[in-house]
Amino acid sequence: MKPLSLAAALLLAGSSILVGPALTAQEAASPAAQRPWMDKSLSPDRRAELLLAAMTLDEKVALLHGPMAIAFGPQMPIPKGAVGSAGYIPGNDRLGIPALQESDASMGVTNPGLVRGAQDMSTALPASLLLAATFNLDIARSGGAMVGTEARSKGLNVQLAGGANLLRDPRGGRNFEYLGEDPLLAGLIAGAAIGGIQSTGMVSTMKHFSINGQEHNRMTADSIIGEANHRESDLLAFQIALEKGDPGSVMCAYNLVNGVYACENDQLLNKTLKRDWGYKGWVMSDWGAVHSLGAITNGLDQQSGEQLDKQVFFDKPLKQAVAGGSIPEARVTDATRRILRAMFANGLFDNPPVKGDVDFAAHAAIAQAQAEEGIVLLKNEGVLPLARTAKKIAVIGQHVDAGVPSGTGSSQVTTPWRANAMTPIRSVPLGGEGMMASWSNVVFHPSAPLAAIRQRFVPAGQSAAPANPFGPPPSTPVTFDNGIYPEAAAAAAKDAELAIVFVYQPSGEGDDVPDMTLPFGQDALIEAVVAANPNTIVVLQTGNAVRMPWADKVKGIVQAWYSGSKGGEAIARVLFGEVNPSGRLPLTWPVDESQLPRPAIPGWGAPADASVKVAYDVEGSDVGYRWFAREAKAPRYWFGHGLSYTSFSHSGLTLSGGSSVSATVEVTNTGKVAGSDVVQLYLVGKPGGAARRLLAFEKVALKPGETRRVTLPVDPRLLAEFDEKAHGWRIDAGDYRIGVGSDAGSVEQVQSLRLGARRMKP
Ligand code: BGC
Repeated sequence: MKPLSLAAALLLAGSSILVGPALTAQEAASPAAQRPWMDKSLSPDRRAELLLAAMTLDEKVALLHGPMAIAFGPQMPIPKGAVGSAGYIPGNDRLGIPALQESDASMGVTNPGLVRGAQDMSTALPASLLLAATFNLDIARSGGAMVGTEARSKGLNVQLAGGANLLRDPRGGRNFEYLGEDPLLAGLIAGAAIGGIQSTGMVSTMKHFSINGQEHNRMTADSIIGEANHRESDLLAFQIALEKGDPGSVMCAYNLVNGVYACENDQLLNKTLKRDWGYKGWVMSDWGAVHSLGAITNGLDQQSGEQLDKQVFFDKPLKQAVAGGSIPEARVTDATRRILRAMFANGLFDNPPVKGDVDFAAHAAIAQAQAEEGIVLLKNEGVLPLARTAKKIAVIGQHVDAGVPSGTGSSQVTTPWRANAMTPIRSVPLGGEGMMASWSNVVFHPSAPLAAIRQRFVPAGQSAAPANPFGPPPSTPVTFDNGIYPEAAAAAAKDAELAIVFVYQPSGEGDDVPDMTLPFGQDALIEAVVAANPNTIVVLQTGNAVRMPWADKVKGIVQAWYSGSKGGEAIARVLFGEVNPSGRLPLTWPVDESQLPRPAIPGWGAPADASVKVAYDVEGSDVGYRWFAREAKAPRYWFGHGLSYTSFSHSGLTLSGGSSVSATVEVTNTGKVAGSDVVQLYLVGKPGGAARRLLAFEKVALKPGETRRVTLPVDPRLLAEFDEKAHGWRIDAGDYRIGVGSDAGSVEQVQSLRLGARRMKP
């Protein structure tokens, strides 16, 4: 056995420092010029160890911090060597360590402050919330691979993706960047998307660790939650994402957790992530989330976006602390080892990114396929799909002529792909004050629903777009009103066979929306249109659930979210039945705020830097549908809801227990057209009483009349409680009641399964 290094000794002493075996004499003697760590046949751990042995303390510390990679005026140009993106950690020429070129985010490669020029283009995937609504891991993986491929084509090698915080409030500004309210769904989709990004030779993050449930007062909000509640909810989503996706890095959050900033939270970073889960990658801070040098002792490995912090703690102050003995050099080595190991494991040394062209047509098809699977048909009273024989369709709504809206903030693709790079992009500044105001522009990704709808009425090969932008549109049955004045919209709808009203809600990083009401008077617009024409369909383009006071009056409601680079086309295909909708809600849709665990947003009205406690133990791990089930409240729509142009039936549920619980069930397409069902398996009761949890799901494509038997393996943690005293998961002996649901509120075929007591590691 090889001798243990100091770091290994520390690990044995119970710390969460990661170690590799010490070098053999031969390895240690090999001259640095030989770069033995470039031997691809060695494991990432071994390669990191060989490289570490050649590094000085200064060289290690240099990898532990870095700036934003954008210019702050002429005084602070973009850092030398940086491609231009969210972040940059300089490489090391002497040792051949590549720089980390870090770019946002999950939905496409961003271009912050147009740092790579206005002509730079990226494909915009739909909102992550739409991705979650697909319930389709293959779609998540292919979207991730697309983003990774585009990032590499711009010379980037770290993607700041993998947002997996649970949606706890339908006013959350960043909910569109996350994957809904359920830990299994969010964890699996995040894991698949991260895996897709990393399959291209990038490192992906998983973020924002943890319980970053509101944007309001995000730098000072203190998320208060008990250990068991946290483990069973947000942490479980992250744990599953980590197991499935193995992200090279984890980004800690801005907020505090139980009184301690997330980026210096020993309980979260050292004890949970690194010790309990055995995480071998590195923890990077969010931009401006580091408040002290002590963060390194508490588990943070790298200070990102360092201009935004009060001090570059992880540079000179760190070296001084090592020299003075207050921080062991072994901790610096451990942090460096984690970064290098993830770089080796994901190909950053062996397969550096090469700038080059992108197959935008292929990537647009990926964005479109995602949009088509994640648009949710919420209501349909026989009005959809639309026929191409309509004599007059009134399309109404702001910016429907330009494109589909996108969420704002660091994740936003502001220079989206367009066939002609010179085509101007409609971007609507929301205004405001403060740091995030300049980011608050609703960029309309240029896939206009109006053109896509009109296209259905012109002969194949002809364009529905006006040949001359100043000229009239081609003759089709489709009229357009911009929806600014309800009276004008009502007049346009009055004599039409059908009115389609598109409404949108901006949401984004930096703050929550104050309430669930649609802005810009759009409720009044819908009311006016439906009063003029009862044959009205509403297409929602929102980053959240919204109040729908008109829901009972309209004939159809389609939730299109923020639908990305081909959103307009995808919406049109769903409306006309070229695509059978198969999206299911990844969130429970409340009627209004009074049904929420926190009817008012904590800290609303307080100054931006006020410290605010957010009491998450109110719902605890009963997030979303579990809260509604526990409190016997009736939402407007349950998690998992989504209609189709066909119908499905489920039968023959059989459960099997023992050490690996699973279910099988038959699903049949009982309608006349092909379609996809999301088979959802729910727990409804356990030995302690009622309990509602999604246990497994599978999306199944079926031809009319086709039946398929699906097998649904159950992650045992979903049947368990987190036992704080025993520090692990505990399944109590007894009967577990399990059924199949078309959503979380209507679970049928419930059967009992007797399980023995069982304990599992945390
Ligand atoms: C966001 C992160 C993002 C980072 C870099 C922060 O404001 O919270 O999600 O990755 O900026 O742009």
